[in-house]
Amino acid sequence: MKKLASVDPEAASLVEAELSRQNNNLELIASENFVCEAILEAQGSILTNKYAEGYPGKRYHGGCEHIDKIEELAIKRACDLFGAEHANVQPHSGVNANLAAYMALISPGDTILGMLLQHGGHLSHGSKASITGNFYGGVFYGVSPDTEMIDYDEVEEIAKKHRPRLIVAGGSAYPRQIDFARFREIADLVGAFFLVDMAHIAGLIAAGLHSSPVPHADVVTSTTTKTMRGARGGFILSGKKLASAIDRAIFPGTQGGPILQNVLAKAVTFRMAMTPAFRKYQSQVKINAAFLADRLQEKGLRIVSGGTDNHLMLVDLQSADLTGQKAEEILDSIGITVNKNLIPFDTRPPTVTSGIRIGTAAITSRGMKEREIEEIATIIFSALQEGTSLDPAPYRRKVNDLCQQFPLYLDPLEFACL
Ligand SMILES: Cc1ncc(COP(=O)(O)O)c(C=O)c1O
Repeated sequence: MKKLASVDPEAASLVEAELSRQNNNLELIASENFVCEAILEAQGSILTNKYAEGYPGKRYHGGCEHIDKIEELAIKRACDLFGAEHANVQPHSGVNANLAAYMALISPGDTILGMLLQHGGHLSHGSKASITGNFYGGVFYGVSPDTEMIDYDEVEEIAKKHRPRLIVAGGSAYPRQIDFARFREIADLVGAFFLVDMAHIAGLIAAGLHSSPVPHADVVTSTTTKTMRGARGGFILSGKKLASAIDRAIFPGTQGGPILQNVLAKAVTFRMAMTPAFRKYQSQVKINAAFLADRLQEKGLRIVSGGTDNHLMLVDLQSADLTGQKAEEILDSIGITVNKNLIPFDTRPPTVTSGIRIGTAAITSRGMKEREIEEIATIIFSALQEGTSLDPAPYRRKVNDLCQQFPLYLDPLEFACL
């Protein structure tokens, strides 16, 4: 940051302040993580100087001989990691990956069947608030009121009723395993394409800790952030048959030139995801999530669906007489970052909510394990119990102590690279 500080001290001081926030807070937002310094270097590299519209060997700009190799490396690694025939590594983000996949598969006006946002889906799966629900007709499945898990028979009924052209599985706040084979059956039954947005669970899938959607889905979209713990950006996997439609839908369909420093960082992300250390990390992410859900439940907080199979959980705060908004504020005041989240069948609006979403990917990257999770569960529970009468100072100190034991990007304890 030395150069930035001399050219633009104001901007540099804001980055320093954000680093300090990340270092001194417990990050429990399920979609966040801490990348290692190799990823930071790749994303801050001189590749930002280059334009390379098109694909390796078929560019609209000269001077792409090294860029082509970088993109080919990222493509090969993505295919090897997930066992896919084709990968497009150019999507600028997860939403861009979804937009391009829809463009490749269906036409404006066609119907998408996706998971209800309020039950854990994502805005880009056909919500009216997103372009996806305006270009396409969004219809939705949810979770069962009894189990708070996907009821596949109900999904089948809805699919038979609406005959969607595309069925989307995956979401932002679904804590359970997803049965991709059953979704495939339903899609075949109604003649729909099947897309899996694995953005949240891609790291677990790469590590073999969640079943893979690749053998079942026509197209798989993802981010390289969240559990993948890598570059900011997206990617798309498919079979060979859909490869050129997907590539055309990214460029020139929905994007211009790729962000090449991010393509490089995706290549590094995929390489790291092939290592035994990454598998060990993912396994700890899952252990930490299950452990935290159990501890919070033991103390008396209700966890939606009774637990978690992945890296995240939803806490129902109704019995604690708190809203998600209030809980987010209380935890924020003591240095714990979570997000308010609708729970299934929530009666409160999305700006208030009855729940919070908690994820363990980021704190596990810092090296935290069961011992620290035990302490975090106690802090969260006590703070929420004290509610609005809470004095944040003693809690803040406990959070600080914990954070200082697991520093980020600080010499001499360099943040570990896998
Ligand atoms: C399931 C899912 N898909 C897509 C996205 C969007 O990713 P991005 O913010 O990179 O566009 C998210 C983001 O949280 C997500 O949870």
